[in-house]
Amino acid sequence: MKIVKLASHEQPPMDLLLLADPSPSLVEEYIQRGQCYVAKAEELILGVYVLLPTRPETVEIVNVAVDERHQGQGIGKKLVNHAIETARQLGYKTIEIGTGNSSIGQLALYQKCGFRMTWIDKDFFIRHYEEPIYENGMQVIDMVRLSQDL
Ligand code: ACO
Ligand code: ACO
Repeated sequence: MKIVKLASHEQPPMDLLLLADPSPSLVEEYIQRGQCYVAKAEELILGVYVLLPTRPETVEIVNVAVDERHQGQGIGKKLVNHAIETARQLGYKTIEIGTGNSSIGQLALYQKCGFRMTWIDKDFFIRHYEEPIYENGMQVIDMVRLSQDL
C-alpha cells in the first residue's frame, strides 16, 4: 500500500470522505481549499485524508477515513502519521485535528499519533448539522480539538 497525493485529474473518493463527515457541502469545501491524499493498494483506494491550511503556519487534518472493509488494520494510523510528516515537510509549525465528543476510537487514534487535547468547541455539531447525530450511544454535540507542534 502507498499513500500519494491525489492527482488533479483524479476524482476524490466522495463515498469515503462522507464516512468522516456527513455534510456533502463541507466535504466539497474542504476538497476545494485543501490537498487530498489517498492510500492505494494496486489501483484501489482504501483510505483518504485532506490537509487543509487554516492559519499562517497551521494546517488541519480533515476527513480522514478508511474503507469499512479495511478498518482496524492500521491504515488509519498510517494516514494520520503520513499527514503529520507531510505537514512537517511542507514547513508547517502546528497540525490540528478535531472530532466529536462521542468518537472514542478516533480520540484514541489521534492521541496515539501524538496529538494532545487543547480545547472544546462547544455545540459545534448542533450549530453545523441540521439533524442530530448519534455514535457509541451518545449524541455528538461538542467538537474536541487536538493539536501537536511539528
Ligand atoms: N480504545 C483504545 N484504542 C482504540 C480504540 C479504543 N476504544 N478504538 C481504536 N483504538 C486504536 C486502535 O487500537 C489502533 O491503535 P493501535 O494500532 O495502537 O492498536 C488505532 O486506534 C486505530 O488504528 P487503525 O486500524 O489504523 O484505524 P482504522 O484504519 O480503522 O482507521 C478511522 C480509523 C479513520 C477513524 C476509521 O475507523 C474510519 O474511517 N472511521 C469512519 C470515518 C471517521 O470517523 N473518520 C474520522 C472523522 S474525524 C476527522 O475526519 C478529523
Ligand atoms: N464506548 C462506549 N461506551 C462505553 C465504553 C466505550 N469504550 N466503555 C464504557 N462504556 C459505557 C458502557 O457501555 C456503559 O453504558 P451503557 O449502560 O449505556 O451501555 C457505561 O459506559 C459503563 O457502565 P457501567 O457498567 O455502569 O460501568 P462500571 O460499573 O464498570 O463502572 C467505572 C465504571 C466506575 C469507571 C469502573 O469501570 C471502575 O471502577 N473503573 C476503575 C476506577 C476508575 O477508573 N474510576 C473513575 C476514575 S475518574 C473519577 O473517579 C472521577
